[in-house]
Amino acid sequence: MPHTFETPVIAGNWKMHKGPDAARKFCREFAQVAPAQNRTLIVFPPALSLTVVRADLIEHDVGVGVQNIYWEEDGAFTGEISAPMAREAGAEYVLVGHSERRHVFKETDEETSLKVAAAMAAGLFPVLCVGETIEERKAGRLEEVILRQLGAGVKTLSDKDFQHLLIAYEPVWAIGTGETATPEDATDAHTRLRNRLRERLGDAADDVPILYGGSVKPDNAGELLAADQVDGVLVGGASLDPRDFARIAAA
Ligand code: PGA
Repeated sequence: MPHTFETPVIAGNWKMHKGPDAARKFCREFAQVAPAQNRTLIVFPPALSLTVVRADLIEHDVGVGVQNIYWEEDGAFTGEISAPMAREAGAEYVLVGHSERRHVFKETDEETSLKVAAAMAAGLFPVLCVGETIEERKAGRLEEVILRQLGAGVKTLSDKDFQHLLIAYEPVWAIGTGETATPEDATDAHTRLRNRLRERLGDAADDVPILYGGSVKPDNAGELLAADQVDGVLVGGASLDPRDFARIAAA
């Protein structure tokens, strides 16, 4: 079934913050300030808080997702959760290949490919994250790195599957550092990703949302969202505060 994402997409990645109690408090406060929207809002809480956030924010038209999945459906994989389980619990989206998964947990390109495939099979929308380190950027390897990560992540997808895919460009050097890419940097990287998608999909490449992530805050969200080729933002730290997240959502 084709799917069109309403853009901009504003997504909040809570990382390992907010158990169910803190999540409930966030939802209560966010409900007071949530902007009227013609956009897609998504929150990625820790998996243990997913059902709370879903129950509390569904009436505000906020989608929920998990931050990670394992690619097997079930079995002896202690500590992991599968795509069908996340779907059953109400998740619609899943982050795949987030920089912290790649760099802290040493997740490989091959693993991102398996996770994207598992997400698609379970009816979750994967948000495939790509991004270069500062060393890679300085060495002029931006394009090589992000296109390699993109290519690996979508390796198993049919052309139709791309209707269910989102991409997040998150330069590693901008994540959690307070250092944001300029709107021009974002446009540059997003254009390279878009061109690669276009080689395969033609004009349908324009329908794959490409989000920017890395130190997005209420005061820079507007200019980033206005940048060419930027279809949304993936927000870490600033998504933890309901007022900040609402301001970004309204930017
Ligand atoms: P940040 O995180 O907004 O705190 O930089 C972004 C992310 O990791 O998705």
